[in-house]
Amino acid sequence: MTNLYLKLTLAMVILTLLPVSASSNEGRGHDDESKTSMGDFFKGASKQNGWSIFYEGMTLQGKRIEIAGGPHWLYMHGGGCASCHGEKGQGGFTPMMCNKKTPPISLKALMSDEHEHGADKEKHTPYTIETIKRALEFSINPAAERLDPCMPKWYLRENDFRDLLFYMKSIGE
Ligand code: HEC
Repeated sequence: MTNLYLKLTLAMVILTLLPVSASSNEGRGHDDESKTSMGDFFKGASKQNGWSIFYEGMTLQGKRIEIAGGPHWLYMHGGGCASCHGEKGQGGFTPMMCNKKTPPISLKALMSDEHEHGADKEKHTPYTIETIKRALEFSINPAAERLDPCMPKWYLRENDFRDLLFYMKSIGE
């Protein structure tokens, strides 16, 4: 009981300190900002629907997510993010009929400074919710570079995007 109370107090102290460290940490401000607004973003999110999109490229209601580009087999056989980025979004392999290794796409991996990109581990501008959306719709990474054409464009409705990200958040934890 007291232990729990201590943890809660500690969490509250950390929470009240957070904005201070964010504003004193120039250049990373946008990153921290997206993290603090994350709770609101995920309000009402369905992990099951996110799971369905991640694995099947389909909503729980069986509606296929509209895509463009990517390899031919995706249109023939269907599939979701897991088909190329792996069961846990860990990436690290080259999908069929592609020339590029997939990067890890858990939310944690995407939003950290350093994550694998293709074959090499390199410093990388961290993604935010907004730039992930842009990457999915326009195939552009946060450094404004074009993604390999193996990565399809995904046109997700607002709620489906939220649910997918909610699932991608859970696989990195
Ligand atoms: C047909 C294979 C394929 C599918 C399906 C696929 N991806 Fe990708 N994805 C790739 C490849 C290959 C790359 C690497 C592109 C590059 O390095 O230029 C990539 C890159 C990305 C990136 C950029 C990561 C970075 O480090 O910059 C994100 C984000 C991403 N994918 C998310 C998704 C999500 C979410 C889904 C499902 C909705 C998905 N992908 C489905 C092949 C795929």
